[in-house]
Amino acid sequence: MKDNTYLLIGGNGFIGINIIHKLLENGKEVYCVDLYDSNTKNINNIHFKSYIDDLTNTDLLRDLVDKSDIIIYLASTSNVRSSSNISMVELDNIEGFIKTIEIIKDYPDKKIIYASSGGTVYGEPDKIPVKEETSLNPISPYGIGKVCSEQFLKYYCNKYDIKYVICRYSNPYGSYQNPLSCVGVINKILYDYHTGKETEIVGNPEVSIRDYIYISDLVDATIAVSENIKSNNQIFNVGSGVGYSLSEIIEEIEIVLGDKVRLTNNNFGKENVSKIVLDVSKIKDTVGWSAKITLRQGINLHNIWIKKQLFK
Ligand SMILES: NC(=O)c1ccc[n+]([C@@H]2O[C@H](COP(=O)([O-])OP(=O)(O)OC[C@H]3O[C@@H](n4cnc5c(N)ncnc54)[C@H](O)[C@@H]3O)[C@@H](O)[C@H]2O)c1
Repeated sequence: MKDNTYLLIGGNGFIGINIIHKLLENGKEVYCVDLYDSNTKNINNIHFKSYIDDLTNTDLLRDLVDKSDIIIYLASTSNVRSSSNISMVELDNIEGFIKTIEIIKDYPDKKIIYASSGGTVYGEPDKIPVKEETSLNPISPYGIGKVCSEQFLKYYCNKYDIKYVICRYSNPYGSYQNPLSCVGVINKILYDYHTGKETEIVGNPEVSIRDYIYISDLVDATIAVSENIKSNNQIFNVGSGVGYSLSEIIEEIEIVLGDKVRLTNNNFGKENVSKIVLDVSKIKDTVGWSAKITLRQGINLHNIWIKKQLFK
C-alpha cells in the first residue's frame, strides 16, 4: 500500500489541524472533510484540499476515500461532559461513523485510523496504568459511544478485510485547542490566566489523576501507526504513560507562568473518571513511538502559543 495520500474526516478540529500541518510538512497529499473550515482555510498548500461538508454527502466521501490511502477519522460532536446530558448526540456520531465505514468497506486496500478515547473507554479502572486488554466499562455516554464505534469498526474490518488502527488517546493539550470547549484543563487555565479570568475546575485536585499528552507527541504517534504495517488491526493506548494530579498540573502551570492562577472548584460529575493513566508499552514495542515532550516543556510551548494568539 502507498501511504502518500491522507483523508482526514473531522480534520478542522484541534487534533485534525495539527495532524494536517505535520503531514504536509512530511510531503503528503491531504484531503479534509469537516463541517467547518475555521482552521483549514488558512492553509495555503497545493498538496491540501478541504471540503466543508458532512458525512451525509456520501458521493463526496466515496470520491475522497477512493483517492486516499489512509483515512483518519476524527469527527465528533460531543465530549465527556457535554455528552452526559445529550446521549442522543452519540447516536449521530455512531451513525456518521457507520456511514463512513460502509463506504470504506468497498476499498479493502485502505487503512482507517479511528480516534478513540483512552480516558473514557475503561471507566474507573481497578488499577493504573491500564493496558489495552483491560475490560471496557465506560461511565459516560461519550465513552459508551466510543466503545460502540470501536466495536463496529472491528466488525466491519474483520468482515471486509480492511486494515484498521484504534488510537485510544489520553488527554491532549496544545496548539489549536478551543478555549471555550469543556475539555482541556491546561488549555483553559492558561487562557483564563491571560484573559484575567478565574478558571472553574472540576473534581478534587488531589484525587483527580490524568495522563496528559502534548499535541505534537499525539500527532507523531498517529502518523507512526498510520505508516507502520505492524500496527494493522491493533488497538493502542496513546498517552504519556505518566499520571499527574490536578494539583500537580496547577503547580507546573504556576511555575511556567511565574505567577498564581485563580481557580474555583466545582462538583465532581459522576460521569468523570477520577484516576486514569494509560500503559503505553504496546505502541512503543510495536512501532517504536513514545512521548518526548515533558509536562513542563508542553505547558511552556502551549503558553507561548496562546500568548501569540491573544496578543498578536
Ligand atoms: N481532544 C481530546 O481531548 C480527545 C481525547 C480523546 C479522543 N478524542 C477524539 O479525537 C477526535 C478529534 O478530537 P478533537 O479534540 O480534534 O475534536 P474537535 O471537536 O476539535 O474536532 C472534531 C471535528 O469534527 C467535525 N465534525 C463533527 N461532526 C462532523 C460531521 N458530521 N461531518 C464532518 N465533520 C464533523 C467538527 O466540525 C470538528 O472540527 C474526536 O473523535 C474525539 O472524540 C479527543
